[in-house]
Amino acid sequence: MSTLTSITNEKISVPAIRARKVRSGSVPIACLTAYSKPMAQLLDPHVDVILVGDSLGMVLYGFESTQPVTLDMMIDHGAAVVRGAKRALVVVDMPFGTYKLSPAQAYQNASRIMAETGCAAVKLEGGTEMAETVAFLTRRGIPVMGHIGLLPQSVSASGGYRAHGREEAEAHYLVQSARKLQDAGAFAIVIESTVEPLAARITQELEIPTIGIGASPACDGQILVTDDMLGVFQDFKPKFVRQFAQLGQQISTAVQDYAKAVRQHEFPAPEHCFGVKPLVPIQDNSANKTAPDKAPHKKRGRR
Ligand code: KIV
Repeated sequence: MSTLTSITNEKISVPAIRARKVRSGSVPIACLTAYSKPMAQLLDPHVDVILVGDSLGMVLYGFESTQPVTLDMMIDHGAAVVRGAKRALVVVDMPFGTYKLSPAQAYQNASRIMAETGCAAVKLEGGTEMAETVAFLTRRGIPVMGHIGLLPQSVSASGGYRAHGREEAEAHYLVQSARKLQDAGAFAIVIESTVEPLAARITQELEIPTIGIGASPACDGQILVTDDMLGVFQDFKPKFVRQFAQLGQQISTAVQDYAKAVRQHEFPAPEHCFGVKPLVPIQDNSANKTAPDKAPHKKRGRR
C-alpha cells in the first residue's frame, strides 16, 4: 500500500514530508506539538510530524508570550521528545533572539539544536526577510520548516492575535514570503491565523506542503498545540482549536478523587503496600550480624 495513503512504521524523513502535496494524492500531514518524552511516545504512532514548539513557554512555563523561551529550554525539551519519537519527524522551534541577527547566528544555534537534540529539522518564524537565512541553513544541511502569518514571537509588534492577510498589501507579502521561503529551500511552511482563501491560494501555488493552524482545510497538513486539542490548557481557547478531549476536566476529577481517598484512609490499600504480612519479631543475634554495607539489597524501584 502506498505511504501516501497509509500509516506505516517507517521512520518519516524530511524528503517524505516535502513530497506530501494533497493535490498529488497525498493524505494531509497530521502534526502536533510535544514537549516531553511521554507525550512524544503517545503521539508518535499516530502523527507524521511532532513539533517541539516554543509555545511551551506559555503552555508549560506560564509565560505571557513565547519571547522568554531560551535555546537551552528548546534543547532540553527537544532531546526529551526525540527520545520518545521512533517514527514521526521531530522539528524543534528556534526561539526568539536566536536566529534573526545574521545567517551565521542562525547556523550556530540551529546546529546546536540539531546536534544536541537529534531532531530532524528546525522551524523559524518570518517571511521574505528570513529567506536569506533559510537559504544559508538549508545549503549547509539544516532542514528548515518556515512559519508565516501570525508569528507568536512578534505578536506585540504585529498588532496582537488577529487573522492575517485581510488587506491586499499583507496578502501580497504573505504570498511573496511563501514563494521566497520555498526558493530558499524550506521543506514545508506553517501558515498560522490567516484568512482562509489566502492559505488555500498559497497551498495551491507552492510545490512544498503547507501546514495550517487557523488557516485552511485546503492546507497540505494541519497542526495544533496538543494541550489545546486535549483540553488541558485552560487559560484561553483560540477560535481555530477543536478540543478532541476534555482531559483538563478528567485530571481535575482524578485529583479530587485522589485527595478524598487519602483523607478518608482509602488510599493506599494493602495491594499498594510492600510486605503486608505481620512483621516477625526481630531477634537480636548481633554476634553474626552482616555488616550493613555488605548486606544483600533488593533492586529498588517504583513498582
Ligand atoms: O510553537 C508552536 O507550538 C507553534 C505551532 C503552534 C505552529 O509554532
